[in-house]
Amino acid sequence: MTTSSTLTEKGRRDCLTGFDVEKVREDFPILKVKVHGKPLVYLDNAATAQKPQVVIDTISTYYMVENSNIHRGIHFLSLQATRAYEDARDKIKHFLNASHTREIIFVRGTTEGINLVAQSYGRPFIKEGDEIVISAMEHHSNIVPWQMLCEQVGAKLRVIPIDDDGELLIDEYGKLLNQRTKFVSVAHLSNALGTISPVKQIIEMAHRFGVPVLLDGAQATPHLKVDVQDLDCDFYAFSGHKLFGPTGVGVLYGKADLLEAMPPYHGGGDMISSVTFEKTLYNVLPYKFEAGTPNIAGGVGLGAAIDYLNGIGLEAVATYEHELLSYATEAVSQIPGVRLIGTAKQKACVLSFVVDDIHAHDVGTILDEEGVAIRTGHHCAMPVMQRFGVPATARASLAFYNTRKEIDTLVAGIRKVKEVFADV
Ligand code: ALA
Repeated sequence: MTTSSTLTEKGRRDCLTGFDVEKVREDFPILKVKVHGKPLVYLDNAATAQKPQVVIDTISTYYMVENSNIHRGIHFLSLQATRAYEDARDKIKHFLNASHTREIIFVRGTTEGINLVAQSYGRPFIKEGDEIVISAMEHHSNIVPWQMLCEQVGAKLRVIPIDDDGELLIDEYGKLLNQRTKFVSVAHLSNALGTISPVKQIIEMAHRFGVPVLLDGAQATPHLKVDVQDLDCDFYAFSGHKLFGPTGVGVLYGKADLLEAMPPYHGGGDMISSVTFEKTLYNVLPYKFEAGTPNIAGGVGLGAAIDYLNGIGLEAVATYEHELLSYATEAVSQIPGVRLIGTAKQKACVLSFVVDDIHAHDVGTILDEEGVAIRTGHHCAMPVMQRFGVPATARASLAFYNTRKEIDTLVAGIRKVKEVFADV
């Protein structure tokens, strides 16, 4: 760790939480990039997070000295690549505290994980007249796959409403559960609002009706410690690229007994144990759900990202980010004309807002000129925008490598937006 005598004043303040953000920033080469001649202030972490050097190196080393196909070869490189890929699966098992690697399925990302469950669990086990419960703050990837399933089998989608702070109305959720409910699928942490939902309670309530629960963990895994056994969730999906790992790789956790009962999602190589024209026997878990050559380098890179995050410690990350979000919330909400969208008591790392009646894209464009990267639009959560009566929001989303100085740059940028529009 950097000693306090070598720290800048800003770094000293950031170290009040015991977290050496300046040291951590050194691990991320992209944070030195300039945008429009200004230092990059990357506040679009909910869209995708940046990658530490160790992840970049792991991927390039894989391609330089290990690249080979897995589970198929008896030659040295194939065995080595297989070991690297399966080691990554083991790291993910520990990361989620799953009881076995059989329960860890590599997918392309959260979206594919949810689609897999909607089809492979939904098609055989959800029937006409059954009900699937989601919430009003879901990402499209946790809405559309269920709508598609409903159309296929004649089931109904029921939606847990949210209040003006963006919190789930848990009593309303209780009223939605009944004998027709056959599945519950909700976000652990909302990408558009930052709300952390009481998922343990949601799961307990569903289980009283014997209903399985999937958690969309795309936003939660970079910020919160996840223990799938403690949560007792039936499925948990997340994406590598939001967890400081590569794009195109993600994970679906599923309880083994459910996965065993489900048919495969995709057919092809590696997911079989034998094939004849008359009959195919499927492979054991998790390979039954992993047809075709996977994103091997992606899986290995995700393993490196998990090692990196474990090295920092998710508890330290959560404490630091909580403090940074409070700082940002206070600073941004003091700007006249700013309205925060999403003010739940339990929140992490997302600051969605609108500024007067200025369109979010204009806010984002002016901030970009200042080097500040945020996301603007509906954040793949159009029903959330409808709920709050706005076409779009500006969203700053934080990671543990962001600093208070960067928040100050964001705030100065928003003030500039207001000045520009005051003259229009
Ligand atoms: N789901 C990502 C986001 O919230 C893309 O921006």
